[in-house]
Amino acid sequence: MDNSPELDALLARLDTGASRDRISAAADVAELEVVERDLLGRRSGAREVREAIKGLDPSERPVAGRALSSYEAGVREMLAERATALAAAAAGEAGAAERLDLTLGGHGLNRGHHHLVTQVQRELEDIFVAMGYAVAEGPEVEDDWHNFEALNFPPGHPARAMQDTLYVKLGRPEQVMLRTHTSPVQIRVMQSQPPPIYCVMPGRTYRNETLDARHSPVFHQIEGLAVDRGITFGDLAGTIEAFTSAYFRTTVPTRLLPSFFPFTEPSAEFAVGCVFCEGSGCRVCSQTGWIELGGCGMVDPNVFAAVGIDPEEYSGFAFGFGLERMPMLRYGVNPIKTFFDGDIRFLSQY
Ligand code: FA5
Repeated sequence: MDNSPELDALLARLDTGASRDRISAAADVAELEVVERDLLGRRSGAREVREAIKGLDPSERPVAGRALSSYEAGVREMLAERATALAAAAAGEAGAAERLDLTLGGHGLNRGHHHLVTQVQRELEDIFVAMGYAVAEGPEVEDDWHNFEALNFPPGHPARAMQDTLYVKLGRPEQVMLRTHTSPVQIRVMQSQPPPIYCVMPGRTYRNETLDARHSPVFHQIEGLAVDRGITFGDLAGTIEAFTSAYFRTTVPTRLLPSFFPFTEPSAEFAVGCVFCEGSGCRVCSQTGWIELGGCGMVDPNVFAAVGIDPEEYSGFAFGFGLERMPMLRYGVNPIKTFFDGDIRFLSQY
């Protein structure tokens, strides 16, 4: 049976689509309340429909009643959803307005790192440790016996004048000093353990010298000492070649020239082929093709005697070189004072 025209007219007033548009257009909670009154309130179309149902034929009233209930339930659901969405948006805006920007005005923490000289010292230690060496340290304030006498510099020996000593006012005059080289640590190591000894000894050293491009009153050295049965000058030359090649990461030619140190016999100065010009001669190597690193030689029997090692049974080699030389060569750092200025623009590059 067809609906009566009255029923169709009532059903047409229950327009869910139009109601949804009005609900979604409500911009805030207050507007939504007005929309709710218009759609479901006492003077709303829905209420008029409810009243009008009473005038329908009794057979059509249940159809109209169900349609009205379903419309009202749908509208309530849409109103609730919109209210939730508007409340969430309002809370978000309030949160954003109250938010504190804690990033303003702060300073990032700069993480420090080791000084370039320390980095190079550690790198060299690692190279030697990989070759089976131990690492030892000694005091920076030394006594005359360790710094000179046990190393075969008797009192008044002219070689003492080669190392301009900074004395400390302690004990008898000129008996306590800032160590002029790391060689006294050789003595301490040989006193503390019997051979075989394979040891490197890095550390800070001091000399009463005027600052120039390559010399500083404070600098660092690294000392090497090997004492065992049957150690030869060939072992010394091979060791120098091995650690310089490991440090410069390429096969570097090395050269030994006769020299003099009271504590080694024979003694030599060792140099590496210039890593900048590969031996052809440049400004860095003063056109010689070679860059001097340090001194070396076979441990003098008098030194063994001072520490109680039998030179008939054991032989040994020692070497010592300026630590700053290594990064100067690798990175072209110049002058030596750059290492000690503490300029963060320099330090942060390495
Ligand atoms: C010595 O100090 C010896 N003890 C080295 C040695 C050890 C020889 C073991 C034999 C056996 P010399 O005074 O030449 O030697 O210094 C060694 C190196 O230290 C130099 O080649 C240079 O690289 C560095 N050096 C010396 N004086 C300074 C200085 N004032 N500033 C920076 N580096 C320096």
